[in-house]
Amino acid sequence: MKKTIVLLPGDGIGPEVTRAAATILRESAHEFNHRFEFQELPIGGAAIDSTGKPLPNETLDACRKADAVFLGAVGGPKWDALPLGKRPESGLLDLRKGLGLFVNLRPVKLLEPLRGISPLKPERLGDLDLEIVRELAGGMYFGERGNITEKGVERAWDTESYTTPEIERIAAFAYTRAESRSRRLCSVDKANVLSSSQLWRRTVTAMSAVYPSVKLEHMYVDNAAMQLTLRPSQFDVLLSSNMFGDILSDAAAALAGSIGLIPSASFGSCAPLFEPIHGSAPSLAGTDSANPIGSILSATLMLREAFGLALEADWAEQSLQRVLASGFRTPDITEPGARAVGGSVFTEILREEMQRTFEHAERYGWGV
Ligand code: IPM
Ligand code: MG
Repeated sequence: MKKTIVLLPGDGIGPEVTRAAATILRESAHEFNHRFEFQELPIGGAAIDSTGKPLPNETLDACRKADAVFLGAVGGPKWDALPLGKRPESGLLDLRKGLGLFVNLRPVKLLEPLRGISPLKPERLGDLDLEIVRELAGGMYFGERGNITEKGVERAWDTESYTTPEIERIAAFAYTRAESRSRRLCSVDKANVLSSSQLWRRTVTAMSAVYPSVKLEHMYVDNAAMQLTLRPSQFDVLLSSNMFGDILSDAAAALAGSIGLIPSASFGSCAPLFEPIHGSAPSLAGTDSANPIGSILSATLMLREAFGLALEADWAEQSLQRVLASGFRTPDITEPGARAVGGSVFTEILREEMQRTFEHAERYGWGV
């Protein structure tokens, strides 16, 4: 299989974690005889510094033509004083918009060897395995906003707005996802207060007739935040607006033990985008202490969801499980007795493990 992948390392720890993802993609391509061609382009603060814009036209054009895009992270204190719309984050938002990405899938799954680092007691944590389906192209992120000063008083506003078709297309994805899993869909809103949430709830409810095997439940977002912490096993697929999904996914990530562990995939009208959900963590940049796992799992999501390469993705993920089971940990998730290593060494150990087991599989004829 031949694929073109655009890499957008971005800022802070973005370049380090992007290198980790690229290493795993290259190793998969090498083992399974695929040809992945990589093209690296600037975004975010790095792009502001080199081109004056957080999303240069060449970057967006290359992404539009690619088979898949990988992004590290954007943002940092160096660009914090810039106005909204010129900050590194707007490069990411414009990219999501420019690629027509309206689905953001965030799988939150316990890595069994890391059970001990979850803040939840094991009996509450259960077999943490849920997916957040976050609407990505609308809501408060893209609503009308403004800032005025009247009679010496400054006022600023952002608006949350959704149309029925915008809700239907993301709900259809969430229903389909639920159909392929445990067939439980929890739609999160604030319909006791927000008009946009009332439309959200009505629309999602009306669609349930099309997906009779899926058990639909609605939950207010404040309760959902609490229920996630109290009993995450009640959830299978969670559907939410852009803003609520951003918040709930960080909360859910903490249950797995670290935000550094969680991947994401975004889908829309052209190339899908894969990115870890963590930020640019400027204070960690260059110290090799960033956790590459969210990025590595974003790479395996790319293999599975963008290219249909399930065996390749399983291969890398099972190797990751074994590396963790052998006790290797990056500094952010280290435990007593663990073998603490930097992110680049961790990635190299994983690559060697993938290679080693692949050679065994070839020699003894199992698995491939
Ligand atoms: C995320 C991030 C982004 C978001 C930021 C960096 C714009 O927090 O992907 O969750 O809010 O969507
Ligand atoms: Mg976020």
